[in-house]
Amino acid sequence: MKLRIVVLPGDGIGPEVTRQAVAVLQSVSDVCGYDFRFETHRVGGVAIEDDGSPLPERTLAACLEADAVLLGAVGDRKYDNCAGEKRPEAGLLALRQALGGFANLRPVQAYDAISDCSPLREEVTRGADILIVRELLGGLYFGEPRAIERNGFSAHNTMRYQADEIERVAHIAFQEAQRRRKHVTSVDKANVLETSQLWRRTVTEVSRQYPDVKLDHAYVDSFAMQVITTPTWYDVVLTENLFGDILSDEAAVISGSLGMLASATVGGKVELYEPVHGSAPDIAGRNLANPFGAIQSAALLLRYTAGLYDESDKIMQAVERTLALGLVTQDLAGRRKRPASPTDAIGQYVVETVTDTLQMHMAYHAV
Ligand code: IPM
Ligand code: MG
Repeated sequence: MKLRIVVLPGDGIGPEVTRQAVAVLQSVSDVCGYDFRFETHRVGGVAIEDDGSPLPERTLAACLEADAVLLGAVGDRKYDNCAGEKRPEAGLLALRQALGGFANLRPVQAYDAISDCSPLREEVTRGADILIVRELLGGLYFGEPRAIERNGFSAHNTMRYQADEIERVAHIAFQEAQRRRKHVTSVDKANVLETSQLWRRTVTEVSRQYPDVKLDHAYVDSFAMQVITTPTWYDVVLTENLFGDILSDEAAVISGSLGMLASATVGGKVELYEPVHGSAPDIAGRNLANPFGAIQSAALLLRYTAGLYDESDKIMQAVERTLALGLVTQDLAGRRKRPASPTDAIGQYVVETVTDTLQMHMAYHAV
């Protein structure tokens, strides 16, 4: 198995967390005798600084040549007052568009070992296991026209969806549901927005091709409340770009920290893997960042790009074992006054666990 992975560490805590994710992938490659190659490029604020653009041409060309892209985070307060295209985030949005992945999968689960770290009660979160499928290339993020006008005293964005953009992401959600608990909740604001009325009608039509999957619809405001009061009720949650952005950060409290969440963007030319969290400039460079979101993004890469299901599961299990040993970063430690471990120590433990379990697995199968 040969994989060419472009690594885009990006800004803030991006480099520290992607370093751990790459180490985990490298250990899988070494133990299993695969040939994973890593090539690192700049994106975001660091790219503006060095190349004058948040998505330099060389970075984009390398990504388009790769089997998968693993990104850390983008964002730097230095650019807060800059125009749209000169912001680090513009690099990520342009990259998403160029790679073409329209379905952003964000698994959210309650981990037994850290169930006391969530501000939600354990009896509320226990067993929760949700897959948010966020449409990633449409809606307000990309809709035209968009502008700031009248000397900065007026601004507008456009929310626009075409039926085929909704159909293709709905198919992904229903297919994921078929491999899970066969339940899709589609989230919209159809009581107010035309785009949501189109969304609801289109998702309902697509659902006819998946008679084994149950479909519900929810309004986004009510869903925002329900997802944290009854998280175990949900399986796959399908929603448009901006709602998915907001709801996935909210749903992260089910896991205990935004730092736990990973994502995979599929459906395009090259798959893109990135933790859901941002660049967290306040803790950057201090070995404090939670690497599990990045490490689990690496596990998703093995699953969705390489079809290496066993290896991907071994990484997920190593994460659970690491948590069970009480190895957590300060974002999780704080709530229950546990000792906090540094980013690299956690990464190291995951690498050792993955290496041990894969070696055992291979020895067993060699007998
Ligand atoms: C996310 C992030 C991005 C988004 C930003 C960094 C552009 O918040 O992936 O959730 O809004 O999509
Ligand atoms: Mg977000």
